Amino acid sequence: MNFHVLTLFPEMIESGMYTSITGRAIQAGILSVEAVNIRDYAYNRHQKVDDYTYGGGAGMLMQAEPVYLAYESVVEKIGHRPRVVYLTPQGQVFRQEMAREMAKEEDIVFLCGHYEGIDERVLEEIVTDYVSIGDYVLTGGELPAMVMMDSISRMVPGVLSNQESAQTESFSENLLEYPQYSRPEVWHGRRVPEVLMSGHHANIEAWRREQSILRTAVRRPELLKKANLTNKEWNMVRQWKKKWKEESDASDKGEKDENS
Ligand code: ADE
Repeated sequence: MNFHVLTLFPEMIESGMYTSITGRAIQAGILSVEAVNIRDYAYNRHQKVDDYTYGGGAGMLMQAEPVYLAYESVVEKIGHRPRVVYLTPQGQVFRQEMAREMAKEEDIVFLCGHYEGIDERVLEEIVTDYVSIGDYVLTGGELPAMVMMDSISRMVPGVLSNQESAQTESFSENLLEYPQYSRPEVWHGRRVPEVLMSGHHANIEAWRREQSILRTAVRRPELLKKANLTNKEWNMVRQWKKKWKEESDASDKGEKDENS
């Protein structure tokens, strides 16, 4: 998998991606990350890449031509027109499913905007995917591009060790991961759950599954709807919800009595 990032801040991409697991995969030749400095394709003496917007309004816009030339340099190098992701809060929201699908590409270009955005005409000409990493606004596309590259990389065969991939597959089932513990057995008075010390594998598996479901029901209930639970497990969830509702009603009543 080859990532090509069109950016005004190549050092940000390089320092982020050449470290940790992605750094290891780059060393091993499974991934490559090339940061293309858009400023190198500015056609004026001062290497200026932004200008005022037609029609007025605050802020500067990145001009079309330097972005286009930076993109063309990648096309020339790889010999085909790859998928081009433009990072923008106006895009489709990035999810695990998209990471899995994009991991099948040979090359992906990420276009990182700054200032108030990029001239629409070059976007129309080169962008294939408009992607947001969530409903909030960042100062530029570099962090979102790194988030996407990190997550896509994990889906590329060979990037994670067997141990790393076995540990984190649970998200694909729309369930959050169960809690985990390491030594010591007691820390700040908190004891590791008894079942995990028992050595009884079936009980441990059952406990972990239940904890995954519980955690998802509490923290991300909207995910749980898409999870594949058995009838018995759905019943267990209904019981919890009933209990939580009774507890919340009782505490509301307590507050009311206190105030009256
Ligand atoms: N650029 C600025 N904010 C962004 C976001 N939330 N997602 C993707 N790109 C962005």
